[in-house]
Amino acid sequence: MTGITIPADIDTTPEDRFYTELGRQDLTFEQTLAELIDNSISAGSKNIEVHIFGENDKVKLIIADDGSGILVSDLVNRILRMGAPPTNPGSMNEHGFGLKNSIARLTGGKEDFKLLTKNPTDKGLYIIRGPLSSRMKVELPNKSEEKIWDSNITQLNLETGTRVYAETNLIFLNTTLHKLYERGPRPTKLEQKQIDALKEHLGVFYRPWLDSTHKIFIKWVHDNGTLKSEEVKALPIPYKRDPAPNRISISVNGKTCDVYYRVGDLDRDLSAKNGFKIYYQGNQRTQGIDVIFRKRVILPHLLTELFGLARHNSLNSFIGDLTVEDPLFSTFNNKTGLDQNNPFVAKLLEELITRYMPQQASSGAYDLRESQLRKQIASTLEKATPNSSAQQNAPIWSRIGVIVDIIHQLPNGEEILYEIKDEEIKPLDIYQVVMYWDGRVADNKRPQIARIVSPEDVSSKIKLLIKYVNQRKDAKGKPYKIEFVHADEILGIGKKKA
Ligand SMILES: Nc1ncnc2c1ncn2[C@@H]1O[C@H](COP(=O)(O)OP(=O)(O)OP(=O)(O)O)[C@@H](O)[C@H]1O
Ligand SMILES: [Mg+2]
Repeated sequence: MTGITIPADIDTTPEDRFYTELGRQDLTFEQTLAELIDNSISAGSKNIEVHIFGENDKVKLIIADDGSGILVSDLVNRILRMGAPPTNPGSMNEHGFGLKNSIARLTGGKEDFKLLTKNPTDKGLYIIRGPLSSRMKVELPNKSEEKIWDSNITQLNLETGTRVYAETNLIFLNTTLHKLYERGPRPTKLEQKQIDALKEHLGVFYRPWLDSTHKIFIKWVHDNGTLKSEEVKALPIPYKRDPAPNRISISVNGKTCDVYYRVGDLDRDLSAKNGFKIYYQGNQRTQGIDVIFRKRVILPHLLTELFGLARHNSLNSFIGDLTVEDPLFSTFNNKTGLDQNNPFVAKLLEELITRYMPQQASSGAYDLRESQLRKQIASTLEKATPNSSAQQNAPIWSRIGVIVDIIHQLPNGEEILYEIKDEEIKPLDIYQVVMYWDGRVADNKRPQIARIVSPEDVSSKIKLLIKYVNQRKDAKGKPYKIEFVHADEILGIGKKKA
């Protein structure tokens, strides 16, 4: 006998560690912050202030809005219940997960958070105090908590709205830097670098929402410095020419909805001019389509996810956007992908693949495959140095039989080796160049320099490896001289001299 009367109710109340585990999601800082901003926008806010206070390796965050505020009955019954739908859904209230996901991720389910809100019906200020647990209450704020409502707030109507205060840490905040990590050490405090990255993310995400009457401000300070305030500006896609949208009608079981698809060419100069450092870099990581769902760019740079196509340099100027408004479509519950289990999403992906598969473009230096890049570099080198010859696929190390991409013979008898890659340089590539150098030495020639060339930026790790190799000596006792050169630089030089 079980000792339990059947049928028996099953206990599904979550353990406290549920929130710690809920926080373990593959979400970066700005994605997590965006869930809170989505809620502010859904509540009809005009202005949103994001306050970030760095204190040693801790970060305190406030997201403040002048939206509708939350009814006390909703504080009690809905907003912290996983999956509960809102009483009045706003534009971006989709799953009933965002607020919980976001607080759990920021706080690791353990650190403090507070939610304060004021609405026109209940008036007064109400608070929910963290950490996340099954024992939270709606209460009245004490004097110091009341200060969260208006301190440092300058851009909001104070009569109605919501404040979410959450404690997180610098390690997590630094996830907002993405690929910028590669270009230097991680900051050990809150500084302009992370704020610039955040402004870029939010300027891309909220491009469809930000305008003269809808604004986001970031106010930030580290330790006891002075609070700085910066406005997030909408950042449009840097197209060469603004492309016209294609309407794609998706019908499933008699229901039809439209999505809009645009595709264009990246203007690299415009991207640099507009200060992009993370998005629209003209490389593999940033090629692809931005998906705008319910007025927010939720997924930038999709390629494989939409077309099943591997990233390739031939698509480096391929950019565009796909605008999906209809609530018949859905995303994953942490908004990191389109839900392929949704028949409208599945149909849309089918349409994109059959009708809009990107052509592996052929214009511009960056659209060339490795061999084309090699040809272009060889002819640029010859043009740049009159009376020189750039021999392609040159055999070296006659007894072993190895081929190097280019040997550039200069008029003074010196030579430079070129190894060309059409993707990011890997450690093995450096040793390939060492092998060519050794081969040349075995042929009784000594290259001046061996250059490794790529249209992708080189990581700090590879720079270290090159430095290490250059401290060593070849079979003739002379030091190796290997250097990385960006394809841009070589092709740029050619253009200037041409
Ligand atoms: N800043 C806010 N202002 C007003 N209401 C809010 C705010 N933040 C959260 N809410 C309320 O809390 C509810 C729960 O938010 P949560 O983000 O968890 O779910 P959601 O927005 O409905 O769905 P999604 O998972 O798509 O974010 C919302 O539906 C909304 O009613
Ligand atoms: Mg939400």
